[in-house]
Amino acid sequence: MEWKEVYKEKIVTASEASQKINSGDRVVIGHAVGEPKLVIDAMIENKESYGDVEIVHMVGMGKGTYAREEMAHHFKHNSLFAGASTREAINSARGEFTPCFFSEIPRLFREEYLKVNVAIIQVSEPDEHSFCSFGVSNDYTKVAAECADIVIAEVNKKMPRVLGDNFIHVKDIDYIVEADYEIMELKKGEIGEVENEIGRNCSFIIEDGSTLQLGIGAVPDAVLLNLKDKKDLGIHSEMISDGVVDLVEAGVINNRKKTIHKNKIVATFLMGTKKLYNFADNNPMIDMFSVDYVNDPYVISQNDNMVSINSCIQIDLMGQIASESIGLKQFSGVGGQVDFIRGANRSKGGKAIIAVPSTASKGTVSRIVPFLDNGATVTTSRADVHYVVTEYGIAELRGKTLKERGRALINIAHPKFRGELIKEWERRFNSKFDYFIYYKIHK
Ligand code: COA
Repeated sequence: MEWKEVYKEKIVTASEASQKINSGDRVVIGHAVGEPKLVIDAMIENKESYGDVEIVHMVGMGKGTYAREEMAHHFKHNSLFAGASTREAINSARGEFTPCFFSEIPRLFREEYLKVNVAIIQVSEPDEHSFCSFGVSNDYTKVAAECADIVIAEVNKKMPRVLGDNFIHVKDIDYIVEADYEIMELKKGEIGEVENEIGRNCSFIIEDGSTLQLGIGAVPDAVLLNLKDKKDLGIHSEMISDGVVDLVEAGVINNRKKTIHKNKIVATFLMGTKKLYNFADNNPMIDMFSVDYVNDPYVISQNDNMVSINSCIQIDLMGQIASESIGLKQFSGVGGQVDFIRGANRSKGGKAIIAVPSTASKGTVSRIVPFLDNGATVTTSRADVHYVVTEYGIAELRGKTLKERGRALINIAHPKFRGELIKEWERRFNSKFDYFIYYKIHK
């Protein structure tokens, strides 16, 4: 049969598609700004038909209605990364959180640690060869579709056709819901003086020819802004945002010096504004792959001069990094932080950077603390930490003793919190703190 006929036969309404879900099913939803909309809304409308449907996803950018209290009899939410719409549910009796590396999620599906009954995804319109692109979200979404008993796809006219191993054939979709809505957008974070200083400090240790991974938010955006004078940068990152487009247009990012995927930006999902989505559409400079490839520390480490830039919530004086919880409260998740830190640490000439403002909560608390808050999760171990950068400078921790680490971290803490940190350092090491020992950055 002609593929167009096959396609037509699969078309259903969102409500019909939602009725393919059965009570007790595990439903995996497309990730981040690739989250489908129409079938999720229909599923909520049809809630009385289900009991105990488990909804699984990582970053949820939608409304997260299924995680609300009044939905508790119909849906249970199992999150792989807490986000704004589901954070409250995860930290209450009704929600669940599964700690995992981003790179490992495809394996959870493939090996049925989390058996996928239904995958609800969003894809582009099919091309002349009947392949739909996963567009902005390949990550675990493609693998979920490959593992699911039933694949429901919203075929969205507005989804860009992003290249790479980023396609699904129409015959591998069970039900198609046609859609025409804008891809969700995430505006740039507000860059203040602190973020700008952090960006500037990072720029001192990022060399021409490096390959970068950057996360999301004001700090990574500020780092990108401070790289305008660099040359021949490359990107191998779990996600890319608008800031990358600006540096491509400025000729700073050209991927020429990359040691794998030369001349290509490699990513597993995109999150930004229309500017980014238009840039990515049919752009041969971008290759998207699933997250078990992009975030595999072994793959990452094959990029020489790999620089990873991530952020955190707290750091203790030994260099233990809490990035995903505030005390016991789950705030986000492991994501790709450890994947990229380990990859960058193993890369020839690589650098793993934790870039973070020295304080939080409007300057009332220090992020550099004597001890992590009770119940806080160590996302990145002290042995994995290489550089910590704040607006006050750079602390290089690799190869440093506990005493030296504490001293280096106190040197980049906010001055108003240094007194109490010094007190703890002197108590712990039974030594007199000396402010004026600085360490040369290892080249
Ligand atoms: N004590 C108390 N509250 C704290 C805190 C601390 N030490 N650190 C942060 N907070 C609060 C902030 O005040 C802020 O609250 P507000 O929104 O009410 O002001 C909130 O927690 C978020 O902090 P902020 O640092 O602004 O968040 P962010 O959006 O920059 O994200 C991480 C920082 C660490 C949460 C984020 O980078 C993350 O989730 N990392 C783990 C995953 C990862 O690195 N993935 C790879 C890259 S995508």
